[in-house]
Amino acid sequence: MLQLASNENPLGMPQAARDAATRALTDASWYPDANGTLLKQALASRFSVPAEWLTLGSGSAELLTMAAHAFVEPGHGVVYSQYGFLVYGVATSQVHGKHIVVPAKNFGHDLDAMAAALDGGTRLAFVANPNNPTGTFIDGHRLLAFLERVPASVTVLLDEAYTEYLRPEQRYDSIAWVRRFPNLIVARTFSKAYGLAGLRVGYGVSQPALAARLEATRPRFNVTTPAIAAAAAALGDSDFIRRTFEMNAAGREQLATGLSLLGLECLRSAGNFVMVRVGDSSAVHRRLLKAGIAVSPLHAYALDEWLRISVGLPEQNRQLLDAMARILGESEEPTTKET
Ligand SMILES: Cc1ncc(COP(=O)(O)O)c(C=O)c1O
Repeated sequence: MLQLASNENPLGMPQAARDAATRALTDASWYPDANGTLLKQALASRFSVPAEWLTLGSGSAELLTMAAHAFVEPGHGVVYSQYGFLVYGVATSQVHGKHIVVPAKNFGHDLDAMAAALDGGTRLAFVANPNNPTGTFIDGHRLLAFLERVPASVTVLLDEAYTEYLRPEQRYDSIAWVRRFPNLIVARTFSKAYGLAGLRVGYGVSQPALAARLEATRPRFNVTTPAIAAAAAALGDSDFIRRTFEMNAAGREQLATGLSLLGLECLRSAGNFVMVRVGDSSAVHRRLLKAGIAVSPLHAYALDEWLRISVGLPEQNRQLLDAMARILGESEEPTTKET
């Protein structure tokens, strides 16, 4: 099965990460270093922040959940965007928070409306940049203006799972914002560009007061020895990230152009996936599965006519486009329900 469903890196993982994880298996009869010192040191030196500013998660999804547990009591408000990453709602429900879902604007975050939605009972705001599944991007000036409006009583979790895929002119320095805003957590992951989704490693960067509150909710030993070793090694492989970026930029263009040529509406994406309107997405999803290709339906987001397709290698993108062309050709009208 060709996996284009979960936004992993089709190049796999850096060789140095594979080697480090394999070596680390030798030590895996022992518990991991509960502090993840090796990885924290590597991250601290990369971002020029003290190690106390870092929190490690079993994937960044765990950090999102930890933030909800750390800052939200039952009934407290949590603000996030319509079409915001699914885990924001799940984490809010887990802590019995009040869901304040702000309608999206052109499928993306409406930061003005989100700022206006923060009230005295709000404790947490999730912002994804780029967002999954829409791929929408908010430029740095607008994000900074949002952060300036957020009261100190609200923690902002800026989720940058796909930040490595941003074009140079889209990039901004969110770590500098962490120095400025004591209520900001930047969350990132090794699951996407670094190719370590199955090892489960993510990290948060925040000032130490927030980091200590996150840390209080962190399950001990949440990041395993091979994961710590692989992530630390991967962080040093800037060449792999550059190749990943280039492969992704070209593949995303290949998919967007190819899908548009098939007459499908495709959102401009800043991530390693595209969201495309296919009409009866369940039927198209099923037929793609029959053709040996897994993509992601988006019913959980009430985006019933859309599919999310991860960027693959050039020949995999071609395979997807060919299958899609066949499927659309089979039904005269792609938006009609399959019987
Ligand atoms: C926007 C966003 N944030 C966070 C995550 C969590 O990824 P992980 O837990 O693998 O780090 C994902 C995964 O798809 C994502 O799309």
